[in-house]
Amino acid sequence: LLSASLLGIDFASPLMNASGVCCRYNEELDAMLASDAGSLITKSCTLLPREGNPEPRYTATALGSINSMGLPNEGYEYYLDYAVKHDYAKKPLFMSVAGLSLEDNMAMLTAIREAKLPAIVELNLSCPNVPGKPQIAYDFEAMESMLEAASRVWAQPFGVKMPPYFDIAHFDEAAAILNRHPLVKFITCINSIGNALVIDIERESVVIKPKDGFGGIGGDYVLPTALANVNAFFRRCPDKQVIGCGGVKSGAEVFMHLLAGASLVQVGTALQEEGCGIFARLNAELAEILQRKGYRSLEEVRGKLRTL
Ligand code: DHB
Repeated sequence: LLSASLLGIDFASPLMNASGVCCRYNEELDAMLASDAGSLITKSCTLLPREGNPEPRYTATALGSINSMGLPNEGYEYYLDYAVKHDYAKKPLFMSVAGLSLEDNMAMLTAIREAKLPAIVELNLSCPNVPGKPQIAYDFEAMESMLEAASRVWAQPFGVKMPPYFDIAHFDEAAAILNRHPLVKFITCINSIGNALVIDIERESVVIKPKDGFGGIGGDYVLPTALANVNAFFRRCPDKQVIGCGGVKSGAEVFMHLLAGASLVQVGTALQEEGCGIFARLNAELAEILQRKGYRSLEEVRGKLRTL
C-alpha cells in the first residue's frame, strides 16, 4: 500500500528524513536505517569538515522550529564512506551535497561519481552559505551555471533541494531553468523559510545565538508554503518528480503532500522532536487515511488535488 518509486527505484515507504535531521553521524544514519523510513539522506556535506555555528543554533517552538546550524558536517569523504558501506538492498540512500562554491560541488560530484555507487544525489541549491551572496536558487544566473556544471560532471540523474518561492514569476523562472536540465529528475521542495526571527517575550530575547537570532523556520509555519511549492513544480515540471518537505507531523500532512504531487515525503522538525520512531507512526496514519478513502496505492493519490 505504501510502496513508492523515484528514478525507477522502489521504496517500501515514501517517508524519509529531511537532510540536516538525524544524519550528521554514522550512528544517526544507522538509526534512520533501523527505522520504518523508506529511505534516508545524509547531512549536506562540504569538501572539508565544518563545526558549524555556536550554540544554541536550533530551538523548537510551539509551531515548529528555527535554526542557523551553519552547515556542521563531517566532510564529504565521511558520507561517501558511509555510502560505500551501505546495503542498498535494505533501503535507498541519498547524499546531500552542498559545496561552498561551484568548484567544490564539481570536486565532490566527481569523487562520488568515481565511487560508482547507487546513491542518489540531492544537490542543495538552498543552503545559506556564502555571506553577502543570496543562496544559489535565489540567484537564477548562479543556479543555471551550477546545474550546467553539475550535469556535466555528474552526467547521470540527480535531484535538487529548493528553497521556497513566494511569487508566481519566480515559480515560472525556476521551473524553466530546471526544465532546461534533463538530468535533474527530481525536485525537493522546500528547505526552511529563511531568515525568520523568533522572540521569547519572557527573556525579551532571540532564541538562537547565530545571526542575531535570525534563522530558517520549519514545522507548522511552513506547511502551506511547502504545499504550494510542491504543487507549483509538479504542475510546471511534468518530466520530473517532486519530493515534498515541510510541516509533516502526521499522516494528514503526508497525504496533503501526495495530493500536491509529491512522490516521496521528507520529515524535518517533527523528526528532530520525536525521533526515528515517528516513521512507524506516520506510516500507520497514512495507511489508515488511504484505507478509509479506499485507495490501494500512492499513485492513485499523487497530484490528484482538486481545484474549485
Ligand atoms: C544548513 C541549513 C540549510 O537550510 C541547508 O540547506 C544546509 C545547511 C545548516 O545551517 O547547517
